[in-house]
Amino acid sequence: MERRADGLLAARPAALRAEDLGISPLATSETIPSAWYVDADFHAFDRKVVLERSWQYVGPASRVAEPGTFVSDIVAGNPVVAVRDRAGRLRAFYNVCKHRGGPLVTTPCGAARMLQCQYHGWTYRLDGMLRGVPRFDRTELFDKRDYGLTEIAVGIWEGLLFVCLRPDETPPLADIMQGIRERITGVDPAARVPAPGAADVLAPGAAADYTSREMPAKEKSAPESLAPESQAPNALYDLASFTYAARDVYAVKANWKVYVDNYLEGYHLPLVHPELCDLLDFSTYVTETFDWYSLQHSPIKAASKAYGAANEQAYYYFVFPNLMLNILPGRLQVNRVDQVASNACSVVFDYYYGQSTSSPGPNPGSESEGAEPKAPPATTHRTTGRTVVDRIPPDRIAADRAFSDRVQAEDIDICEHVQRGLQSNAYDRGRFSYDLEGGVHHFQSALKRAYRDELYAREAGELSVAAPPTRPE
Ligand code: FES
Ligand SMILES: [Fe+2]
Repeated sequence: MERRADGLLAARPAALRAEDLGISPLATSETIPSAWYVDADFHAFDRKVVLERSWQYVGPASRVAEPGTFVSDIVAGNPVVAVRDRAGRLRAFYNVCKHRGGPLVTTPCGAARMLQCQYHGWTYRLDGMLRGVPRFDRTELFDKRDYGLTEIAVGIWEGLLFVCLRPDETPPLADIMQGIRERITGVDPAARVPAPGAADVLAPGAAADYTSREMPAKEKSAPESLAPESQAPNALYDLASFTYAARDVYAVKANWKVYVDNYLEGYHLPLVHPELCDLLDFSTYVTETFDWYSLQHSPIKAASKAYGAANEQAYYYFVFPNLMLNILPGRLQVNRVDQVASNACSVVFDYYYGQSTSSPGPNPGSESEGAEPKAPPATTHRTTGRTVVDRIPPDRIAADRAFSDRVQAEDIDICEHVQRGLQSNAYDRGRFSYDLEGGVHHFQSALKRAYRDELYAREAGELSVAAPPTRPE
């Protein structure tokens, strides 16, 4: 496909027809055409029009806390490196040398005084300026100032590091994430999920860095009669206080949108994840949609080593276009869905842990069922009487990863079957369950908007406009 100088595609994918871009209400809508999942042209189109115009999760921000520390990754198909420069400013660049495209760093994280290309040794300052160019004395008309690294946008939300390749065409990170922290920590009472145990909060001081945050407007005007405890964030869901633990990466032979669709509905839980259904109260499973994300949530039905105590909430946030935040008390699992090919993707699973309720039950399906974990120091919550541990014990982390691995294997298997079905002669598009597939409809509507914005901007000759894309409903 022909490319313009600005990197955008010169033509829409042949399978993208204007008549398919209409958005109907959930109750009457059809799913998007199968061609959008299988057509090779959509691979590049999705990257440019959707993934590059979004904030991409990279890893834990704690890894770039000190000057000289860096993290690298590949997001939206592009190698990137985020680094804390000597002045203490966080920066991010394409991890691409201006000589002949070599990598500056080849490890996921580390520390360096300079960024040195691993190919021929050009060196760059941590602010991106080219500094050292070995054996270039006889090269003419060469000015180092023309060959600095290409800088991209970088941001931190709740201890998570993000970069954005096209910040002029993407809303600010804080705008996109607006409301998530308030909802899960309960600092905005109006946004809380009414569920057994959901009103439990930890004592003031449990979240050490809360005072540095901007208080939501509703919290500022809270009536004085509220007890001080009820104004503190629930530390079980205070993501910024969690500690990074591990990364798993899964290869999936399915289009990235197949994986996202599957994530966004609880409809498949009874048949695909019977073990997970034993832990969550499927009867109260709810999907809510917001500007840039959707939320599936459910109370935890049964205590388990993997999921912790019963009656706490499990939150499953999907942030458009490819980020998932799977939140349990004291545990955050971040998923990033990466394109690989039109019929393949990979999924990053990063695990973070914090405080948790204690007394977990048996690990479902595990041979060690019933075994008592080694309990770390525990304290009794003074308001609720619930026992809270300062950190999740290692065997519970292992149980969590093992259980997630089993659920992921089930999802991969069904997604790969679905990809084959989408590629078959028998299928083009289907319909949605009003009760259980609202999240899929929300995602597919946001995709259509991104495609429409691109096509209409193209027709108007306004490619690379500075305005952010139209918000999804
Ligand atoms: S590609 Fe970086 S020094 Fe040659
Ligand atoms: Fe699933």
